[in-house]
Amino acid sequence: MDDLYREVIIERHKNPQNRGTLDPHDYSFEDENPFCGDHIRVDVRTDSTGKITEAAFSGHGCAISTASADLLIEAIIGRSVEEVKAMTKEDVLDLLGIELGPVRLKCALLPLKVLKAGVYGLDQASDKLVEGDEGN
Ligand code: FES
Repeated sequence: MDDLYREVIIERHKNPQNRGTLDPHDYSFEDENPFCGDHIRVDVRTDSTGKITEAAFSGHGCAISTASADLLIEAIIGRSVEEVKAMTKEDVLDLLGIELGPVRLKCALLPLKVLKAGVYGLDQASDKLVEGDEGN
């Protein structure tokens, strides 16, 4: 089963479906993984009800962070900003479908941290944003 998910990750890294930037956008944020310097930006557009209608990611990352960003963008289209605020690392791990050690976990969670910092309007992305205990 892991092999199937690994293939998905490699394919998403090579041919991401949601790479790009949105200008104008309603939310945008970018930050880097301090361990490697790779960075991800996420742009989001919403409608008048706060539902996400478009989203895209850009930047440079490894296979895991790119695949995670690509899958995450797909997962948030049609969701509300409030639903995005409630997303946790478990949601990202479900999307990726593989077990990850601590170093690769940082890669996988970078896009969600960036996304959540953007929708919360924060100056900085932090691990706390994806732990599921930030007051949801
Ligand atoms: Fe840099 Fe994965 S090695 S984000």
